[in-house]
Amino acid sequence: MKMLKMTDLCLKDKRVLIREDFNVPIRNGIISSDARILAAIPTIQYALDAGAKVTLMSHLGRPVEGKFDHDYSIKPIADYLEKLLKTKVTVISDWKKNLPNSDCKITLLENVRFNQGENINQTSLAKSYASICDIFVMDAFGAAHRSQASTHGVAKYAPVSCAGPLLVRELEALDKVLENPSRPMVAIVGGSKISTKLAVLEKISDKVDQLIVGGGIANTFLAAKGLPVGKSLCEYDFIVDAQRIMSKTDILLPTDVMVGREFSESTSATLKETAEVSSEDMILDFGPVSAKKLAETLIKAGTILWNGPIGVFEFQKFETGTRVIAEAISNSIGYSVAGGGDTLAAVDKFGITDKISYVSTGGGAFLEYVEGKTLPAVEILESRFGAETLAD
Ligand code: 3PG
Ligand code: MG
Repeated sequence: MKMLKMTDLCLKDKRVLIREDFNVPIRNGIISSDARILAAIPTIQYALDAGAKVTLMSHLGRPVEGKFDHDYSIKPIADYLEKLLKTKVTVISDWKKNLPNSDCKITLLENVRFNQGENINQTSLAKSYASICDIFVMDAFGAAHRSQASTHGVAKYAPVSCAGPLLVRELEALDKVLENPSRPMVAIVGGSKISTKLAVLEKISDKVDQLIVGGGIANTFLAAKGLPVGKSLCEYDFIVDAQRIMSKTDILLPTDVMVGREFSESTSATLKETAEVSSEDMILDFGPVSAKKLAETLIKAGTILWNGPIGVFEFQKFETGTRVIAEAISNSIGYSVAGGGDTLAAVDKFGITDKISYVSTGGGAFLEYVEGKTLPAVEILESRFGAETLAD
């Protein structure tokens, strides 16, 4: 990872523009998960302590570009930041005309996705962002897979562009798992659809000693082995892919499962041998014997990569598989990294955030990095570093 780092620079009296990922769930003005905001705080505090004039920017949701929409305003984030940082945070919409001034300790630009040209990485918009700073800091790992004006273009045109500490930590944690893992390495890939995780499964199956699959993905693997899955979520079009992955990796599949008659919290939960699942059944979780096997495998792991739940953990009756994984990772002495939206919700629910070696703030970015893709916002920082080093 060859990039200029924020921590290598003198920030005193500099106009520092930090791209954050404040894309957090907000319902009726209330932030329901603040993990991404909390993860951003140390970088902001560092810049403030170093004497920088700090401007922050982020997207929030996917509003229609080119106009203000109150439902997607960044204002609730400003209020939240003020409480955490105990510092005034001023939201600015017309930042192209009214440049953030030195009276405001922290300026937060209104949702970057209100700006025409943001999503297509328009050069003029990228240059406008670049013009309001001396140093651009990319710290939004969660948005690093987006080639947009506030993630990529600005990094190209800012006088100096560098990686923020959160971005650096995220990449280091993932590189540690993907490049030189302590063995045995175990990956858990759960979630509903194999189609959305196929690239991850392909990549990771070449690296792991043991693969655990969960959710609808596990059902597709069970079907690929000729086992009955009844009415369960299963992608029959991907059975050939599941068979190919199974032929090259050791996959732990459930031998017992918890089934229901429908996808609802009130459906009754029945324990069955996997081979005895009927045409009326829906597999909604691993059974206790399989969950125990998961725990035994994870306890012995040197490295654990976790993305996606095992069962429908939102319903208490079907949370066991996911809870067992969460507990086993907590008790493991191996190096563990968890990432992805549903995974973070599970980490939150079972209260194990502090017991995982690294919890990523990335959803799509996390998956793309694991797939081995280059993240555009990282690539531009690396290419600038190369060019500037050559010019020296
Ligand atoms: C995310 O939540 O995955 C990131 O913030 C990126 O958001 P996006 O998928 O709307 O670009
Ligand atoms: Mg997304």
